[in-house]
Amino acid sequence: METPWDQLHTEIQACARCALAQGIRNKVPGQGNRKARLMLIGEGPGAEEDASGLAFVGKAGQLLTKMLAAIDLNREDVFIANVVKCRPPQNRAPLPVEMANCLPFLREQTRLIRPQVILVLGASALQVVLGPDKRITRCRGQWTESKGVFIMPTFHPAALLRDPAKKRDTWADLQAVRDKLAALSKSNA
Ligand code: URA
Repeated sequence: METPWDQLHTEIQACARCALAQGIRNKVPGQGNRKARLMLIGEGPGAEEDASGLAFVGKAGQLLTKMLAAIDLNREDVFIANVVKCRPPQNRAPLPVEMANCLPFLREQTRLIRPQVILVLGASALQVVLGPDKRITRCRGQWTESKGVFIMPTFHPAALLRDPAKKRDTWADLQAVRDKLAALSKSNA
């Protein structure tokens, strides 16, 4: 029997709502634990992700794995998705219209996973999740609660590779996520 996940992946694979779908090698729906308490949302696939069909497997992804390990999480513990499922050409940021076209897929993923905490990685994801006027430098490190889900924006790992001075703030944000997950487990016990 077709599950909602099967149906979602079929729709993602068939999607041609915008020109991003032309000239890609693979759609990158996102992957991980479908019952994750923590969901991560990045921007969009790069070259390695496009080649493999998997989110966050290039340099930024390797750093993301280390960031998760620093708060005692494996990639298998979390679900990692992107705002857009197709690689934008030359790794440019996705356009607002492209993000809007892809948003129903991210919404459905979030609905199926029902995470307790969402870690928003970088400006594109922030603008999709919390609003187009939001700035990552202002919003990072601050919790927003929406429909019982706790949302923490932080810098994108690619930004940390470009500017290691951002690591200190990002570490503080990750610790806040770790503490929130621990507090939520306690309150549910
Ligand atoms: N950057 C992203 O935002 N997502 C990926 O999957 C890889 C790099």
